[in-house]
Amino acid sequence: MTDTDAIPQPAGRTLWRGARLATLADPAGWGWIERGAIVTAGDAITWVGAESELPRDAGVTAEVDLGGAVVTPGLVDCHTHLVYAGDRAAEFELRLQGASYEAIARAGGGIRSTVAATRAADEAALFAAARRRALALRAEGVTTLEIKSGYGLALEHEARCLRVARRLGRELPLTVRTTCLAAHALPPEFDGRADDYVDAVCTWLPVLHADGLVDAVDAFCERIAFTPAQTRRVFEAARALGLPVKLHAEQLSDQGGAALAAAFGALSCDHLEYLSDAGIAAMARAGTVAVLLPGAFYFLRETKLPPVDALRAAGVPIALATDHNPGSSPTLSPLLMLNMACTLFRLTPEEALRGVTVHGARALGLHDRGRLAAGLRADFVAWGVEHPRELAYAFGQRPACRVVQGGREEPLR
Ligand code: NIG
Ligand code: FE
Repeated sequence: MTDTDAIPQPAGRTLWRGARLATLADPAGWGWIERGAIVTAGDAITWVGAESELPRDAGVTAEVDLGGAVVTPGLVDCHTHLVYAGDRAAEFELRLQGASYEAIARAGGGIRSTVAATRAADEAALFAAARRRALALRAEGVTTLEIKSGYGLALEHEARCLRVARRLGRELPLTVRTTCLAAHALPPEFDGRADDYVDAVCTWLPVLHADGLVDAVDAFCERIAFTPAQTRRVFEAARALGLPVKLHAEQLSDQGGAALAAAFGALSCDHLEYLSDAGIAAMARAGTVAVLLPGAFYFLRETKLPPVDALRAAGVPIALATDHNPGSSPTLSPLLMLNMACTLFRLTPEEALRGVTVHGARALGLHDRGRLAAGLRADFVAWGVEHPRELAYAFGQRPACRVVQGGREEPLR
């Protein structure tokens, strides 16, 4: 079987029975249904409930027995930098010898070294590497994936990376949302001319958007990247195109980035270790999602924790993501992020699962997924566990799973 061969799909309405459902359908609780079932038609869920309550007129034409598996919504990895070449294992060694992430970046390593490798790679090689990574995420239950550019940092190279991301969405059984992160770092040809680079980025956005390559716009607002004033100019260019914004905010210091992003109605602010009370209040007012990235926190050996209690108290939805990238979070395991969010950030297992489902979807502006309910997309995962809290508990174990995306189960590879 090649990986384009699908498992034979039942036509018409399919009853997925023998499921123990964690629907996450309500604002709190697992939404647990012990002997549950789902009916799908095409790519949509038409009914969810206890098997004993299946309506006679559900119109079921085929059945799949899930054998008592725990079924959750498909996972949404709402923050990745999946398209790049090379790796940063040597930089990892340098950091272990005492060099800091910031110092390496200031010396021209870090993101810039990945930019050099990415520019030197051909598009087919970029695609092959990104495809392998996307399939690894999918094998752990991911059905929706955000991919940022940001290792091209020139119009032609940013376009190439975004094209690779779009192609992944066309060729793999995954929804891919693209984010233009051209304002990720200053490329060497703009040394000492950050404002000129931001001007250039603002002229690239309409071109990339016209080519259908951009679903959202992101920036890295940090002392080693772009100032709030420069970030604002990128956001204004995004707003002029009607594109939603997101921000790498308050990762290494408090730049007031979250409040700025919230003023632009940002979908999400991500990282947030140094987030202030004012930033939290602004995000709460704007309905901006807080995306926590425990992989980067762990791998950079950060000690300042994101303000989880204050985010909860303010009612800011908390999402989690892998932040897969070669420098600060070279992981391809969303379940490891659940575990780290609980052990490092003290999220509950239920909060962690919401973070990679309903809140992850919201961080991408997607309201048709992330929960199991009639009318939503038929994206779900059947896990070989007894209770959904085990998804956050065991780490590095990769429980068996079956992934249904858009009502279709495809082989996992
Ligand atoms: O999300 N913070 C900025 N961007 C990435 C890291 C990029 C890199 O180091 O290559 C992040 O952590
Ligand atoms: Fe990131």
